[in-house]
Amino acid sequence: MNPLPTTPESLLPLVLAAMDRAPDSRLRELMASLVTHLHRFVIESRVSEAEFERAVAFLVGIGQATGPTKNEVILASDLLGVSTLVALLNNPGSSGLDSDAALLGPFWRANAPVCAPGTNIAREGTQGELLAVSGTVRGEGGQPVAGAEVDVWQASPVGLYENQDPNQPDMNLRGRFKTDAEGRYALRTVRPAGYPVPTDGPCGELLRAQVRHPYRPAHLHFMVSAPGHKVLISQVFPEGSENLDSDPVFGVTAALVGRIEPARGATPAQLVRDFQLSPGETVFPHPPIP
Ligand code: BEZ
Ligand code: FE
Repeated sequence: MNPLPTTPESLLPLVLAAMDRAPDSRLRELMASLVTHLHRFVIESRVSEAEFERAVAFLVGIGQATGPTKNEVILASDLLGVSTLVALLNNPGSSGLDSDAALLGPFWRANAPVCAPGTNIAREGTQGELLAVSGTVRGEGGQPVAGAEVDVWQASPVGLYENQDPNQPDMNLRGRFKTDAEGRYALRTVRPAGYPVPTDGPCGELLRAQVRHPYRPAHLHFMVSAPGHKVLISQVFPEGSENLDSDPVFGVTAALVGRIEPARGATPAQLVRDFQLSPGETVFPHPPIP
């Protein structure tokens, strides 16, 4: 017969032993580490029964708040810094300090319209300052990658993604562009604005309890892919944007800040952004919302 627990500390070895038969070795490793940290956390923090109930209610709440237009579970992970941590850990960049990787966020949609080079993704009456975005996609050795896909999405200048806003056309401010023979892409859009992460669910309650503001600095999202290369999920934050140093989802790294050259005469404001892909499997994330 297995020993029976007598103290809080004597539970952990029993739980670890019970999970040790899982045939999947990575599942065994992850669950053993998670349970070890969780038990230590509960013991060290002396978690009360009321606090445990509150934590369960939070988890139930983020599930219930998730639906066709919102993924509150991803938002919770973002606000804890875990999404950015996973992105940086798995995409270290060549010097370890220059990763182009960023969290996906809850608003990416698969199957954005495929656009010809130079298309303006700000459709039908979207207000805002015209912005020309261009750059080159390169492989690990610096060689241009022809035929790479650059998927771009952003919030409108009023701070809402099209799928949060009934006043925007479907797929507004979203588009997929192919690079040319020299690895170049080009598109037009409007200058992005900052916006609050959704605060109408349990995550908003958490932010208020921690006296944290919800405003992400202005940014553009990119997902760059090509056969034989790892999918790169990135963001660019214009230099000088508000809240660069207090992003509620900790998504701003030095490497992700870019310069927008101001408009001059007939030349619109310009953002040039190059991307470097790493060799690997081309695996796309599951869309957080349909
Ligand atoms: C976004 O950039 O789309 C985003 C990221 C994290 C939380 C909310 C929104
Ligand atoms: Fe965003």
